[in-house]
Amino acid sequence: MSFVRNAWYAACWSEDLASGGTLARTLLCRQIVLWRTTDGVAALEDRCCHRSLPLSLGRVTGTTLQCGYHGLEFDRTGRCVRVPGQSRVPPGSTVRAYPVCERHGLIWLWPGDAGAADTALIPDLPWLDDPGWTRTGGCIHLGADYRLLIDNLLDLTHVSYIHKNTLAGDPAEALVPVTTTREGDAIRVERWMRGFTAPPMYNRARKFAGKVDRWQLIRWQAPSTVTLDIGCADADTGAPEGDRSHGISMWSNHIITPETETTTHYLWAFARNFKLGDETVSKTIAQDGLRTFLEDTAVLEAQQRSISTVGDRATVDIRIDNAPMQFRRILGDMIAREGAGAA
Ligand code: FES
Ligand SMILES: [Fe+2]
Repeated sequence: MSFVRNAWYAACWSEDLASGGTLARTLLCRQIVLWRTTDGVAALEDRCCHRSLPLSLGRVTGTTLQCGYHGLEFDRTGRCVRVPGQSRVPPGSTVRAYPVCERHGLIWLWPGDAGAADTALIPDLPWLDDPGWTRTGGCIHLGADYRLLIDNLLDLTHVSYIHKNTLAGDPAEALVPVTTTREGDAIRVERWMRGFTAPPMYNRARKFAGKVDRWQLIRWQAPSTVTLDIGCADADTGAPEGDRSHGISMWSNHIITPETETTTHYLWAFARNFKLGDETVSKTIAQDGLRTFLEDTAVLEAQQRSISTVGDRATVDIRIDNAPMQFRRILGDMIAREGAGAA
């Protein structure tokens, strides 16, 4: 398996799980049902211990999830608490429960050792639910290995090729060098572009009369969260030194959860600190974002088809692969450590 299991993964956006509702999701090759009780969110293996019907086909009754076949009821710990027609609950009537936590507008699930689930380890994405920022986003079902998506996000040069009709600006931008830094189990890839024309998306949000300084500050955090701190400001007004008051900022969030070895739940969102609550701007950003990410996912799915057909044969590496190769090394080491711990 190519997953780190002892980590928090986003199962879905909070709004995807209605009150009293259930949601079936395959996460890291496991069938899981998420459900919202009167006490909050819960997650169980999506298989009844009686005759294996997915529990997601059942219904929430206050604090229990009732199987849709013969009515066994389970609490949030996975224990069967009621069997219709008999007072005794047979021993072993349990299903696996997973630690869950709702934070930053997302429902996070810990698929590994429950005893190690510490909510302090949930990626810190405060701009997703801070009133000083407005969030817009969605979820794409990607038919590719989640690591191909992280490769893509850590490489800025693909913009000139994949996004030539959407994001690509001045071709000289692609020549601006990046700096890559490792920070523990995280990697930063940073690029400052000084004295360029503002791209259309930023100009629509706030008219920039002259040249701008632009930034793209990417951070991958193990196992699969990538955030991009992006924006621009009037040139030479101090943005690289920390004064962004003459510009606008956005967080581009990529919260990535493997579904299987070759499919992925790709949760994405933009958070902006300008024109808060402006529905037209939110709609434009959502449309532009989705269009751009679908350009990426079309390429990644073609790449996956190629890999699945011919196998993961040796490929060559070039200079732009520095950050992707570093992230794969860190992730591989984490997976190996987990495997050694389980042995
Ligand atoms: S299969 Fe669930 S109660 Fe029988
Ligand atoms: Fe892209």
